[in-house]
Amino acid sequence: SAAPPEKNRGEVMAEHRLKTSVAIIGCGDVGSTLAYTLVLQPICSEVILVDPKEDLLQAQVRDLGDATYRGQTGARVRAGTHKDAGQADIVVITAGAKQKIGESRLSLLSRNLHILSSIFQAMSPINPNTILLLVANPVDILTYFARKLSGLPESQVLGTGTTLDSARLRGILAQKADVAPNSIDAYVLGEHGDSQFIAWSSCTIGTSPLRLALPQVSDPAFKKDIADHTRGAAAAIIAAKGCTAYGIGMVAASICKYILFDSRTVRPLSFYQPELGCCLSMPAVIGRKGIIKKMPIELDESEQKNLEECAGNLRAVIDGAEK
Ligand code: 2OP
Repeated sequence: SAAPPEKNRGEVMAEHRLKTSVAIIGCGDVGSTLAYTLVLQPICSEVILVDPKEDLLQAQVRDLGDATYRGQTGARVRAGTHKDAGQADIVVITAGAKQKIGESRLSLLSRNLHILSSIFQAMSPINPNTILLLVANPVDILTYFARKLSGLPESQVLGTGTTLDSARLRGILAQKADVAPNSIDAYVLGEHGDSQFIAWSSCTIGTSPLRLALPQVSDPAFKKDIADHTRGAAAAIIAAKGCTAYGIGMVAASICKYILFDSRTVRPLSFYQPELGCCLSMPAVIGRKGIIKKMPIELDESEQKNLEECAGNLRAVIDGAEK
């Protein structure tokens, strides 16, 4: 009788619960910071780094390896190929040009879409169970095209989106209200970029609506100042140090943990919104299969208008790129 079909690595691993592997494509500032964050916490057992710059790749693997030999978490770091990455449990794509001072994330699209296409050609065939996590910018547009290029189910292709912006917002509100950031539920939604918006009407501190917990929000100037600082946070950091890495590295590592632990955590993640025809961030439950379900959120009239404007902007960029 015919030999049983060769099991792919993902099937073997799942069968034997051997290893959980996170592949990071691009080991520059963001990719290497994510790798470091992953090896410091018990999130996965293997980090596979992929980068065309061989010298940088080997140096990052060696340097990160030095952080693992005390064996706090048992995580191992190794260099891999795109083919290896395509068989990992999670593939995180950080590869791409980064914003220069004063440059918008959207201006990176043509360069980074070209890099994304070459990554998928090199990775193919991708393990059908792999979860794709986009980090490179413009993350919402790249997430949209990654769905098409990968052929994976929509629920398995997501971007970090406004989870980072929402963390920044929580930090600002925590300072204003003098409470712990993890006691604040506040979402930035839409584009991880200039057309993002804050869902003010659903922000709470503890179980207290923001209008009761921080009455200053009744002043439009107060809210605008917070929105401007949230939206402008990355540009201010990039102007001073040339990139951001720790915030996005922690966000991406946390999302890997939610996936591998099937935590069912709710976060504003970038994923395909059929009714809007683009990828942007909305609240979602995340687990081992990726986006488990979208969480309904009540938007007031102005927030709904912001969402539609944001989607219109992103669709225009997508249409331009597809021409
Ligand atoms: C950030 O917001 C640059 O998208 C990156 O930190």
